[in-house]
Amino acid sequence: MDMGLKDKSVIVTGGGSNIGRAIVLGFAAENARITIGDIDPEQAGKVAAEAEKRGASAVQVVKTDVTDKAQVDALFASAVDRFGGVDVLVNNVGWDQLMFFTQTTPELWQKIIQVNYVGVLNCTRAALDVMVPSKGGAIVSISSDASRQGEAREAVYGGVKAAINSFMKSIAKENGRYGVRCNVVCPGVTVPESTDEVGKTSMWANSDSMFTEEQFEKIAKSLPLRKLGRPSDIAGAVVFLASPVAGHITGQVLSVSGGYSMIG
Ligand SMILES: NC(=O)c1ccc[n+]([C@@H]2O[C@H](COP(=O)([O-])OP(=O)(O)OC[C@H]3O[C@@H](n4cnc5c(N)ncnc54)[C@H](O)[C@@H]3O)[C@@H](O)[C@H]2O)c1
Repeated sequence: MDMGLKDKSVIVTGGGSNIGRAIVLGFAAENARITIGDIDPEQAGKVAAEAEKRGASAVQVVKTDVTDKAQVDALFASAVDRFGGVDVLVNNVGWDQLMFFTQTTPELWQKIIQVNYVGVLNCTRAALDVMVPSKGGAIVSISSDASRQGEAREAVYGGVKAAINSFMKSIAKENGRYGVRCNVVCPGVTVPESTDEVGKTSMWANSDSMFTEEQFEKIAKSLPLRKLGRPSDIAGAVVFLASPVAGHITGQVLSVSGGYSMIG
């Protein structure tokens, strides 16, 4: 389906693995020009090659740590130099280590805040610096249903993801007048289809540290749709929100989680 994204310049952070990978491939199918910013350029390079096969108009990988503002600025400069601007930013990078709050340390809290929240601040600021003068753009941030429901073993992460939901609404209010739309997608548990879809820096590199097979089965059974989320489920929602088809939608938080949360 033509969503009006042909040749648009799209930046996807964390596009090397799992959900980010599927988002890159979703934009590739729309013939977009894609810049992947990831700390793992090797895995991102594999995704770039796949994206070219799936129809991307052009793809580049820029090794980037989103917690470092200078590296983020270099990522955006690279997209502007090569593709003439930035039409879409997908803030996809996220990270967590599942454990009860009483087992966590202040060092772990700082890492979760830096990777999940400061990374979004760095990238959103860099995006607005390009999008506002050019009077248009779309930002989609990947949050989590943990931000809406609260979740055991995800206390700090859920709180930080809730901050992203609020931040994006404020940014939507401040920048709608410049034609910039900002929305949020909240995945539920979203599992890679195969080990090829994740690199060594992915949270899923050792999926045993996330959930056991028994827990996966329980989660799937508990959902209204009775199945686990897959990365392509998230990608569809992101491509839609980034596209002109969603041209009158801003400041929204959309759960893509098999019905895990239902918020009216
Ligand atoms: N998979 C899930 O079940 C799930 C559920 C809810 C929300 N989410 C959110 O969806 C997003 C993607 O999750 P995923 O499961 O695909 O994660 P993942 O760990 O599989 O992939 C994350 C990607 O980001 C990159 N990355 C990590 N830190 C980085 C940094 N500092 N700078 C640049 N790149 C960095 C990694 O190299 C990797 O390619 C995250 O925001 C996550 O919080 C995931």
